[in-house]
Amino acid sequence: MNSLNIQIRPVTPPDVPAISALAREIWQATYPGIITQAQIDFMLEQRYGHERLYDDLEDADKWLDQGFYGERRIGFAFSEIYQDEFKLDKLYIHPDVQRRGVGGQLITHVAARAEKLGYPCVILAVNKRNEKAISSYRKYGFAVRETIVADIGGGFVMDDYIMEKKL
Ligand SMILES: CC(C)(COP(=O)(O)OP(=O)(O)OC[C@H]1O[C@@H](n2cnc3c(N)ncnc32)[C@H](O)[C@@H]1OP(=O)(O)O)[C@@H](O)C(=O)NCCC(=O)NCCS
Repeated sequence: MNSLNIQIRPVTPPDVPAISALAREIWQATYPGIITQAQIDFMLEQRYGHERLYDDLEDADKWLDQGFYGERRIGFAFSEIYQDEFKLDKLYIHPDVQRRGVGGQLITHVAARAEKLGYPCVILAVNKRNEKAISSYRKYGFAVRETIVADIGGGFVMDDYIMEKKL
């Protein structure tokens, strides 16, 4: 399918409800079969609750970017400085427009920011069973650096690869 050229804009407080709803829609299309519904609900509340997103917007070490195709909001990428490294913390594209280069454009945008700030690489965490995302990250130059099992509270763990893209 043809690639879609998107416009990337910063998330602002009025966007928060729409970002939270978009996250739920994409997570429900992605994670059943990878993690339980209880874990999906827990993580959505933990990461995309409105108050959490308002807090993220005020954090000088976090950047929340959203992608639009025309007037339609089709995805988002959040990045942050995490333990002295530059991390792509969230990358989510609506299922209708996946595999049309949108994720790639957001990765390029985030990597340019990391490079401008002087970081040698971009890192991310991805569930070991999220094969589509892993192949997409490989396509854009990420390689597995380590594996982790992180306790995220609520009796849940994240079973992830840490991937790294050198800049
Ligand atoms: C993973 C994701 C961010 C990639 O963004 P995207 O816009 O779909 O990807 P792009 O079009 O830029 O890149 C395409 C590559 O991604 C991978 N990919 C994306 N969708 C895929 C699918 N349905 N099946 C297989 N591979 C897929 C392939 O490597 C593909 O390359 P190819 O078309 O040359 O084979 C996006 O598919 C997504 O949001 N997925 C659901 C949420 C998710 O898993 N996010 C990552 C959490 S860590």
